[in-house]
Amino acid sequence: MTRIVLISALSLVFVSFVYSQDDWDIPEKDKENLSIYMFDEDFALEGEGVYENSCMSCHGNPGKADFSIMVPSPGDIAGQDFQNQTDGELFYKIKTGKGSMPAFEDAFSQEEIWNLVAYIRSFNPKYEQEIPNLEGLKV
Ligand code: HEC
Repeated sequence: MTRIVLISALSLVFVSFVYSQDDWDIPEKDKENLSIYMFDEDFALEGEGVYENSCMSCHGNPGKADFSIMVPSPGDIAGQDFQNQTDGELFYKIKTGKGSMPAFEDAFSQEEIWNLVAYIRSFNPKYEQEIPNLEGLKV
């Protein structure tokens, strides 16, 4: 009996350890993905509207840390956890979702997802957009 209790206790510890990890599985190529759109004020402003309609209910008012209480936490888009990621990581996470974070792939165009990334970046005064090398692009 004691052994069974011990084993279940141990597996609980293991399960909570696994789930507490930042286990987004993002392909290298997607991490390096860059926007072909300039993140200027107008472009970010488009993202603000989308954010208010589709994200604010969980992520709250940017910079106010008033996001919903959930595990894992949605977090504040103005915070370090968001700002330390690459543009490609943010894009991928919004596109695919995970757990209670919905996937927005079917809801938004690629441009709208980049609008959201631009809006998230507008809260980071140190951010400088990395421009993709478009050499060889056929238009
Ligand atoms: C129903 C609640 C909910 C909604 C709506 C929602 N999110 Fe999330 N979001 C979450 C949760 C919960 C997480 C944490 C998921 C995890 O780590 O497993 C998350 C994580 C994220 C992450 C990754 C953050 C990190 O630190 O890795 C990004 C980026 C993100 N959300 C952006 C958005 C955007 C943009 C929208 C709107 C288009 C949105 N979310 C709408 C709940 C939500």
